[in-house]
Amino acid sequence: MNELLHKKVQDAAQTLVADRRWLHSHAEISFQEKETTAWLCAQLEKIDGLTVSRPTATGAVATLSTGRPGPVVAFRADIDALAMTEATGLPYASQNPGAMHACGHDGHAAVLLSAARLLAGMRDELRGEVRFLFQHAEEVPPGGAAQLVAAGAVDGVEEVYGLHFTSSMPTGSFGVRSGVLTSATDRFDITVKGKGGHSAIPQECVDPVVIGAQIVLALQGIISRKLNPCEVAVLSICQVSGGSAYNIIPHTIQLTGSVRTFDQTVRENVERWIEEIARGIAQAQGGDIDFAYSYGYGFVVNDPALTEAAAAVIRETFGPQAVVPIGPQMPGEDFCHFLEKCPGFFVEVGAASPEKGITAPHHNPLYQLDEDALPLAAEYAAALLASRLKR
Ligand code: NI
Repeated sequence: MNELLHKKVQDAAQTLVADRRWLHSHAEISFQEKETTAWLCAQLEKIDGLTVSRPTATGAVATLSTGRPGPVVAFRADIDALAMTEATGLPYASQNPGAMHACGHDGHAAVLLSAARLLAGMRDELRGEVRFLFQHAEEVPPGGAAQLVAAGAVDGVEEVYGLHFTSSMPTGSFGVRSGVLTSATDRFDITVKGKGGHSAIPQECVDPVVIGAQIVLALQGIISRKLNPCEVAVLSICQVSGGSAYNIIPHTIQLTGSVRTFDQTVRENVERWIEEIARGIAQAQGGDIDFAYSYGYGFVVNDPALTEAAAAVIRETFGPQAVVPIGPQMPGEDFCHFLEKCPGFFVEVGAASPEKGITAPHHNPLYQLDEDALPLAAEYAAALLASRLKR
């Protein structure tokens, strides 16, 4: 452990908690993080040595240049809240009905702000450059990461890091995984096309409801019968709509669903199988389908060497027990867009506390973040960045 850094983190802990509470109470949903961005920029501009820029309408980038040649490294925090109303009753609960930091992004932003202060204070000991990416709109595809990348925010960056607090691990643990970490999140839309008519004269119709029902059941066979059992995917049909009256066979109905995968070949196969099965069922009965499959966020794949380097920092800083190997995570992440530009590592930071009753899952109106996890995450981020930029 770097004793001096640890002491600085302890001294900054109160500010870190206060910053996080400010962000929490001023929750703003994706692409509308105006006040959040303005406040973050105001805090960043107070830090000696940082250059603050706003390459996108919301979101901000703070650059710390040491003036000495060296690696260019980025650390990203997402800053957006979810479109839901908070029910925690906390004194610092969201003041904005319909917007709640129920995924912990307020914590991510406060942690990165704290890390920026710590790194700026250490810049005489460092070389190269750090970019602190305060990214808007992680929750809503196409997401803010792609916009930041398109705006050049990570041009020249050689390594990119990120973190997410998680309610599935206790405070003090860091979930580490080399290779694929989060799933690709795709959407499909099937229009089942039949021939509408009178409910009493089905022989003159092609009933898209009956065809659609068969498709819903048959698609579940993709996961159980088509996919290699050693591979994983999720296929959920979440919206079924159609029809206008009890006695009219509709002309068409809509089926909409989501697919999650961890491998590009599996992703492409599932897409193909959905279309083949749905079209085959429809055509066998005189109908047809229109099919659309849209890619959402891709896979977050952690670089093996950077994973090991980050795990070593966690072990040195918090002890070997803090590194907890984890499996792939289903929630998607638009951090994948940064990884299209350079290698990186994304860690899951434990922030649940059963003793304090802080166990509600993310995206729940009762979600809470264990604030004791905040300084741990800040110390991790600062120690990791310092280790990559050591003179
Ligand atoms: Ni999140």
